[in-house]
Amino acid sequence: MMRVLVFWFLVAVTAVVTAVNVTYDHRALVIDGTRRVLVSGSIHYPRSTPDMWPGLIQKSKEGGLDVIETYVFWNLHEPVKNQYDFEGRKDLVKFVKLVADAGLYVHLRIGPYVCAEWNYGGFPLWLHFIPGIELRTDNEPYKAEMKRFTAKIVGMMKDENLYASQGGPIILSQIENEYGNIDDKYGPAGKSYIKWAASMATSLNTGVPWVMCQQKDAPESVINTCNGFYCDGFTPNSKNKPAMWTENWTGWFLSFGGAVPYRPVEDIAFAVARFYQRGGTFQNYYMYHGGTNFGHSTGGPFIATSYDYDAPLDEYGAPRQPKWGHLNELHKAIKLCEEALVATNPKYTSLGHNAEAHVYKTSSTCAAFLANIDSQNDATVTFNGNSYHLPAWSVSILPDCKNVVFNSAKINSVSTIRKFVTTSVSDESGASEAISSDWSYVSEPVGISSDDAFNRPGLLEQINTTADQSDYLWYSLRADIKGDEPFLHDGSQTNLHVKSLGHVFHLFVNDQLEGSATGSASQPQISKDIPITLKSGKNKIDILSLTVGLQNYGAFFDKTGAGITGPVELMGLTNGSSVDLSSKQWTYQIGLKGEALGLNTGGSSLWVSGSPKSQPLTWYKTNFDAPSGDNPVAIDFTGMGKGEAWVNGQSIGRYWPAYIAPTSGCSDCSYKGSYSSSKCLKNCGKPSQKLYHVPRSWLKPSGNVMVLFEEIGGDPTRISFATQELESLCSHVSQSHPLPVDTWSQDKSRIKSKSEPRVSLECPHPNQVISSIKFASFGTPQGKCGSFSHGKCRSTNALSVIQKACIGSRTCNVGVATATFGDPCIGVVKSLAVEASCA
Ligand code: GAL
Repeated sequence: MMRVLVFWFLVAVTAVVTAVNVTYDHRALVIDGTRRVLVSGSIHYPRSTPDMWPGLIQKSKEGGLDVIETYVFWNLHEPVKNQYDFEGRKDLVKFVKLVADAGLYVHLRIGPYVCAEWNYGGFPLWLHFIPGIELRTDNEPYKAEMKRFTAKIVGMMKDENLYASQGGPIILSQIENEYGNIDDKYGPAGKSYIKWAASMATSLNTGVPWVMCQQKDAPESVINTCNGFYCDGFTPNSKNKPAMWTENWTGWFLSFGGAVPYRPVEDIAFAVARFYQRGGTFQNYYMYHGGTNFGHSTGGPFIATSYDYDAPLDEYGAPRQPKWGHLNELHKAIKLCEEALVATNPKYTSLGHNAEAHVYKTSSTCAAFLANIDSQNDATVTFNGNSYHLPAWSVSILPDCKNVVFNSAKINSVSTIRKFVTTSVSDESGASEAISSDWSYVSEPVGISSDDAFNRPGLLEQINTTADQSDYLWYSLRADIKGDEPFLHDGSQTNLHVKSLGHVFHLFVNDQLEGSATGSASQPQISKDIPITLKSGKNKIDILSLTVGLQNYGAFFDKTGAGITGPVELMGLTNGSSVDLSSKQWTYQIGLKGEALGLNTGGSSLWVSGSPKSQPLTWYKTNFDAPSGDNPVAIDFTGMGKGEAWVNGQSIGRYWPAYIAPTSGCSDCSYKGSYSSSKCLKNCGKPSQKLYHVPRSWLKPSGNVMVLFEEIGGDPTRISFATQELESLCSHVSQSHPLPVDTWSQDKSRIKSKSEPRVSLECPHPNQVISSIKFASFGTPQGKCGSFSHGKCRSTNALSVIQKACIGSRTCNVGVATATFGDPCIGVVKSLAVEASCA
C-alpha cells in the first residue's frame, strides 16, 4: 500500500513539476507565462528512417530551431480500417520523444487531411468507399471518421504524456490544412465544416492551442496562420491571436518530368527577417528536411520519389550549405532581439523609397530591422543618426538598434559542394561500376494472367476499380479484324486513339509493345493516337494503365480519377471509318502477376538467370554488397526506363530516369525580387531524378537483394551505386559583412572586441581534416564555390596564409583583414574567398 502511495505521489509531483502552460496573446505564443519568439522546421518522420531521426533532430537544433513540425499521415497508420500501424518509420511516438530528448518542442499537424505531396493527401482510400461519404465537408460519415482518427492520435499522445500540458514537447496542433484555399467550392457546408472541425479539435482537450492554416474565417478558438513564400503582410483574424507562419517553403517539390526547383537562401532569409520585422513571432520552414517518398507514399500525380525540397538539410540529412548556416546565423540574430520583440509592437518608420525600419523599443531594450525591399537597387539609409548600407532585397538586424549583426544578403556561412560519386563494386568478374553483372529475371505476362480477372461492359475508372491496391490496371480486349480491311493490304496506317484520365499507359497489341503515353503534373490526362499493327482475325489489345501517386490537392481532389475512361477508337478502317471500342466487353486485372506472387521480396522459383535488355514488363533481381563506409547511398538508375525498386523487400520508391525535364526554363536566378516555384530551376534537359536514396539502415554489408520491376525496357547491368562525398568546402566573406553573430552576447554587448569578419572552415566529419586548399584569394575574387576566380586586386600571400592556418586541422579561422594579407588595393572593399577539401 505504502509503495502504491509513494508511486502516485511521485507521479503527481512529476506532473506538477514538468507541466508547461501554453497559451497565446496578440503578440506570441506564451509558454509558462513568457511570450516566445520561435523558429520551427518541418521534418516528416516517414520520409526518413528511425536511425536518421536523431541526427536530423540534432542538426535542426544546431541550426537554431526551437520546434519540429510534422504532419500525421492517416493512410500510413490506418491502411485498412481499424488496423493501425505505428512501427518503424511510422513510429510517431518515438519520433516525438526523440524531439523531446533533444530539448525541442513539437508542432503536431494532425490534419488529418495533410496535402504534403502525399498520396491522396493522407487519406486512406477506404474512406472513399464508405456509403454516403463526402470528404472534407459537413458530412456525417466523413466527420465521424475524421473525429475518430484525430481522437486516436490525440489519445496516443496523451497516453504517453506528450502534450506540454502533461510535461511533453507538443506545444501546438493543427486541424485540417489550407481548407480556406478551396472552401468556396463546398458552399455553406464548407463553412459549417470548419466550425465543426475547430470545436471537435478543441473538445479533445489537449491543453495546447490549435491552429488552422490558410483559414481566414477560423473560429475564435483556433489560431489562423499563414503559408507561403512570404508572410510578412499577414494579419490574423482576431486581435487576440499572434501572427504565425506555418509553411515557409524553403524550395519546392520535384515532379517527374520537371526540372529541379531551388530557392536562394538570401531570399528565404529576407522573407523570414521581414516576417519577424513586421510583427511575426512563429515561423516554420516547410521543409527543414524533405527526405524521400518511399514506397507508394508520394502524392501527385507525378510527384517524384525525392522530396529533397532544396531544404536546409538535404534529402540524405546533410546540411545544405550555405543555406543551413546562413539561416542559423539569422536565427541567432533574431534570438538576440527576442526580449524586445515580445515586449512591444513594432513601430514603423519609412527610411525613403522602398526602405523601412521597424523598431521594438521599451525603456530597457531596443531592437530594429532595416529593410530595403527594392528588388534592383541598393540603398544607403540613415537610422538613429547612423548610416547603413542595405543591399537590394535585404534586411539588416540590429539587436541594439545600432549595430548590424546580420544582413540577409551577406553570407558569412561556409558553402559546400557535395557530389554523388559512382562507387566501384568488385565481384568475380573484377571491379566495375555496375552494382552487379549477375542478374536473374522473370517476364511479366502481357495482359490477363490472373484468375481474379473480371469482365465488364465499358471502360472503368481506375481508382474506383483498384482502390489503389496497385498502380496497375490491365484493360484487355479481343478485336476481330476482317480480312478486307485496307491496312492489311495497302500498307496504310491504323491507329488506336486512346483517351485516359491519366497517368500513364502502355499499349500492347498481340503481345508487342506498340507505344506508351504519359501525362504530366500539370496535364495528367492523355489523348493519344498510337500507330498499331493488326492482323486479320482475332487481335489481342492490352492496355496497362497506371497511376503515379494519387492527387493530393484541390477541391474534390479525391474524385479526380484516373485510367482509360475512353474513348478507345480504332481508326483507319474501310473508307476511313473508325470503330469505338469503349463500350465493348473489357476484361480487367488489378495489379501484376509478379505483385501477386510477391516477387518484390526476391522469393519464388521463377527467376531465370540473365538480364535481357530493352524488354518491357520485366522483373529483375540481383544480390549485392553494400558500398563501404558510412556515407549516404543512392542508386543511379541511368539506363533504366520506369518502374519500382525494392532493397531487401523495402520499396525505395518509383524510379523513372526516362522522364526528362524540359530543355528550357532553367536560367541563372537572382535572389532579388519575389520568388515563385518556377523562378529558379536547374537540371533542364536531364532526367528529373536519376538518383534514389537507399537508407543505410536497410543495407547489410553483403547478401543484399535488389528487385526491380521495369515497365518500358532498360539495361539493369548499367545500374550503379553512388555515395555522397564532400568535394569542396568554401567560404567567401567580405570586409563589409557584419561580424559573426556569436561575437555578440545575449545582453547585446560585444564579447570579442577585436573581432573582424572571418572565414571559418570546418570539415563536417569529425575524423577528417582540411587536406588541401584549392583556391584562396584576398582582394576582389569572384564566382562561387567550385568556380572562384581572382579579381584584378589580389594579395600575393593568400594561398600560403590559408594553407598554413588550415591544412591538417579540422577547423580554421582567418580574419578578413589587411593586417594578415596586406592591402592590395587601398580604398577598395576587399573579400577573402577560399575553397578547401577535407580528407
Ligand atoms: C501547401 C500544403 C503542404 C504542401 C505545400 C507544397 O499548400 O499545405 O502540405 O503541399 O503546399 O509543398
